[in-house]
Amino acid sequence: MLSIFRLGPAWFTKLIIDQAIPAQDLRLAAFIIAALLGVAALTNALNGAELYLQQWVGQHVVYDLRAQLYAHLQQQSMSFYDANQTGQLMSRVTNDVNQVQSFLTQGLTRLANTVVTLAVNLAIMLYLDPLLTLVAMSVTPVVVYFQMRMATVMDLYRVVARKSAELNVVLQENVTGIKLVKAFDREPYEAARFNHVNRAIREGRMKATMNRTLAGVGQEYATYVSAIIIIVFGAWRVMEGALTIGSVTAFYSYVLSMWAPVRWMTFMNQMAQQAVAAGERVFEILDTPLGVTEKPGAVVLGRLEGRIELDDVSFAYGKNPPLLQHVSAMVEPGHTLALVGPSGSGKTTLINLIPRFYDVSGGAVRIDGHDVRDVTLQSLRSQMGLVMQETFLFNLTIRENISYGREGAPMEEVVAAARAANAHGFISELEQGYETLVGERGVRLSGGQRQRIAIARAILVDPRILILDEATSSVDNQTDYLIRQALDGLMNGRTTIVIAHRLSTVQRAHQILVMEQGAITARGTHQELLRSSPLYQHLHEIQFRLHREGDEGSLTNGAALLPTLSGAPGKMEVRG
Ligand SMILES: Nc1ncnc2c1ncn2[C@@H]1O[C@H](COP(=O)(O)OP(=O)(O)OP(=O)(O)O)[C@@H](O)[C@H]1O
Ligand SMILES: [Mg+2]
Repeated sequence: MLSIFRLGPAWFTKLIIDQAIPAQDLRLAAFIIAALLGVAALTNALNGAELYLQQWVGQHVVYDLRAQLYAHLQQQSMSFYDANQTGQLMSRVTNDVNQVQSFLTQGLTRLANTVVTLAVNLAIMLYLDPLLTLVAMSVTPVVVYFQMRMATVMDLYRVVARKSAELNVVLQENVTGIKLVKAFDREPYEAARFNHVNRAIREGRMKATMNRTLAGVGQEYATYVSAIIIIVFGAWRVMEGALTIGSVTAFYSYVLSMWAPVRWMTFMNQMAQQAVAAGERVFEILDTPLGVTEKPGAVVLGRLEGRIELDDVSFAYGKNPPLLQHVSAMVEPGHTLALVGPSGSGKTTLINLIPRFYDVSGGAVRIDGHDVRDVTLQSLRSQMGLVMQETFLFNLTIRENISYGREGAPMEEVVAAARAANAHGFISELEQGYETLVGERGVRLSGGQRQRIAIARAILVDPRILILDEATSSVDNQTDYLIRQALDGLMNGRTTIVIAHRLSTVQRAHQILVMEQGAITARGTHQELLRSSPLYQHLHEIQFRLHREGDEGSLTNGAALLPTLSGAPGKMEVRG
């Protein structure tokens, strides 16, 4: 609104030329100059206030938008993250939100300003001389033509925005996967991949700039022509006596100050388009329905006994063909269920259904008789301890990582958990002990150390149900032994579902399920399955061999035992 004040000086100029100068009225001239100074001061002060207010509104809106976006992302189920790329999501929370913000802070207020300025400007021009206005406006179609050419620029910007998000994806993958890139000598390939997108962004931007410059130059020239037209026609009108010199001077200012808002409209059009495109991407996320949600009136689970029932469970990832088909099993409180099966048979998928990372597509998962879809996620998940196949640690201290599931746990309990996880030893040897920062994803620790911290983290929450995806990554015998002992301690007295790669784990399990291609093809105890299931015998032969040494209670004599078990599968016997 404030830009209206900018229309003032031209009118004051007219007053000086038409009235003060001919009448030689110094008092009037002084008054006008004082008024000019006053208006300028007021304009600038208000302008500052307006800028501040703009930012205030914009930043608050953006804060809310970002917070909402984050909250929504946090609530999204795992299937959402399967379908979306990290870099893309990051680009939406940062770049896209910023784009919406810059439109809100600058664009909207400017738009109001511009429209009002244009209208008032035009009204004054019409009041001064309708005919001259008509003549001056004759170049408008040319300006508008160039303005429309600007529209192609918006499309180019949209492409650039998409490419920028793509660049994020490539960069993010490169940074997290840097070891792999180096190990396989793929630096040139990754650099080429990065540069390909980088170049596309440069070219897109250059093309957009080119089009914008051409259109801008065209507009500039049209403006210039309009100025000449006014001088020529204005002079003619003055000679005719239809206008005063002061009016023509003022008119000239008004026409020139009109093209700026017209050009602003162009720029704002572009900004609006970008903001709309960015907004669309933001709202696409906000509008994605949450996959896993709590029912209204979901039951808050009390302390669990720990009975788990898989009742005719089927599951498919997204629109893929069903992976799990009619899986049924019952785990009594305190018992251990072991899952074994070839890689890709659906073991991890099955255990993901218990804390409801995904929802079943058929059948039901029940805990203590409650369908997991009927209870609150917090009361369900807080009673589960998870040790995943790939250990993830946050870039926090060891203490903070161990107490991640129980913030503010007393130090003695953290240490006790670390002791139980056989982690206390190596932690105390670190220079900063429990206060050591582990690096992003725990890079500063070894694989075996990370696993034991993850076990300590699960121990500390004292879960009723333990879900273990035993890591297949091989560690040395000594470490394996330590991890195994830690897990034994953790499994004691809790219902445990474990994807087993260790012989000791399957041996002590109350029940073992053999999975093949998403279905259970055999079940029983270790001894029963050795007799009845050829697949189990085979798995036993190949899968548990790695870990067998430790299971014999000795860390060193494993190799000596190998020949005993390498006979025909049917004849396998296990000592101990
Ligand atoms: N997020 C996902 N989206 C789509 N398909 C998936 C997803 N995760 C796994 N799959 C597919 O589901 C199948 C089973 O995967 P799952 O991780 O359950 O196997 P697994 O038995 O745990 O194997 P492993 O012993 O190697 O860990 C695989 O064929 C895999 O390609
Ligand atoms: Mg798995």
